[in-house]
Amino acid sequence: MTGSFTRRDGVLYAEDVALPAIAEAAGTPVYVNSAGGMRRQARALLDAFAGHDVRICYAVKANHHLAVLRLFAGMGLGMDTVSGGEIARALKAGCPPERIVFAGVAKDTDEMRLGLAQGIFQFNVESIEELRRLGQVASAMGRRAPVALRVNPDVAAGGHDKISTGKKGDKFGVPIEDASAILAEAATMAGIEPVGLHCHIGSQITELAPFEAAYRRVLEAFTAIREGGVELTRVDFGGGFGVRYQEPPKFTIADYARMVLRLTSGLGASVVLEPGRFLVAEQAVLVARAIYLKETATHRFLVLDAGMNTLIRPAMYGAWHDILPVVAKDGPLVPTEVVGPICESSDFFARGRPLPRMMEGDLVAIMQAGAYGSVMASDYNSRPGPAEVMVDGERFTVITPRRAVERQYEDETVPPWLE
Ligand code: LLP
Repeated sequence: MTGSFTRRDGVLYAEDVALPAIAEAAGTPVYVNSAGGMRRQARALLDAFAGHDVRICYAVKANHHLAVLRLFAGMGLGMDTVSGGEIARALKAGCPPERIVFAGVAKDTDEMRLGLAQGIFQFNVESIEELRRLGQVASAMGRRAPVALRVNPDVAAGGHDKISTGKKGDKFGVPIEDASAILAEAATMAGIEPVGLHCHIGSQITELAPFEAAYRRVLEAFTAIREGGVELTRVDFGGGFGVRYQEPPKFTIADYARMVLRLTSGLGASVVLEPGRFLVAEQAVLVARAIYLKETATHRFLVLDAGMNTLIRPAMYGAWHDILPVVAKDGPLVPTEVVGPICESSDFFARGRPLPRMMEGDLVAIMQAGAYGSVMASDYNSRPGPAEVMVDGERFTVITPRRAVERQYEDETVPPWLE
């Protein structure tokens, strides 16, 4: 349990609010976010880099809810976005454009125009093709796009194959050895202002060594490119800091900050960071209710009203999330299959998890659900989408009501020739 979620008299609380009260008010399944916890994480990062030219840009993709973006924007964080939609959300939440980074594998022309018209801080460009397109779009608008080129430093890292991004053959960035030629070309384009290099080697990285190895390569290239005459002023190291799911990461944010500051001291460049998971993962839980306890001769299935459509991480990445009874139960722990209501065998949260004897109607909390949880939820099987709540001390607000089924099909049209 993290600081935001604690037990009092056997009942699980989010800050100072009991989870059963939230389940009552918002229905289940419901994501419960701790504003205090998010602030604490952001503060830890800001403090670790205080007094240095380091910009923290929250990776919006981890949880793009306007309330979450507002909270971080209000603390002075920038936003790392990967689509026109995320830029729109960041702006709507009050993030000034000059704090917005636009990354992402492929930006289309309309998205480029949006970023340019708003005067965002930086475009993280992923290929020579994208660079040329951005140059043309910017010239046509009479603008210059500040560009950091994403390089692939060929370092393997990340909690899972599906979230590792920095190896040769991954679709991300340009091979680091090509960066110099590409930036030399960039410097000749009227619509481009080359400002730096960018890398992001993966997510849920629990050791410091791969970060350091990748950053060293990026900084070598950075120095060489500068010596070649392209005036780079920023280095963007991406995100990826691991959090505790089952095991805690082997470094603290203070260790990470020391490493970054050591590598970049005397460089004369600003540092940009794009953490997502670190800021939110442990600051939300998914509260679900058991619809049935189904017992067979060999297994005990706890069937929840949340499924892979609500939180896909276990099904998609084999991810571990702690699962706790919301109201503590005495008695022995029994291996339990914690599953959802979706018609697929991949729809599970845990297999053979030792839990007290949970029953129909009981509430469970699926922990560490704040990053890549609600944002990856879908309408699959047309079940009502999860509600979301934000807690701050003793107060809470339903920030997304449970999405009624009617809302899922309100934009669908049956062709007149089928009526
Ligand atoms: N910057 C870039 C360019 C990224 O691609 C990502 C994440 C981040 C920053 C933020 O990384 P973080 O600090 O959150 O690790 N859905 C997966 C994770 C996908 C991560 C994608 N990129 C999961 O649930 O584990």
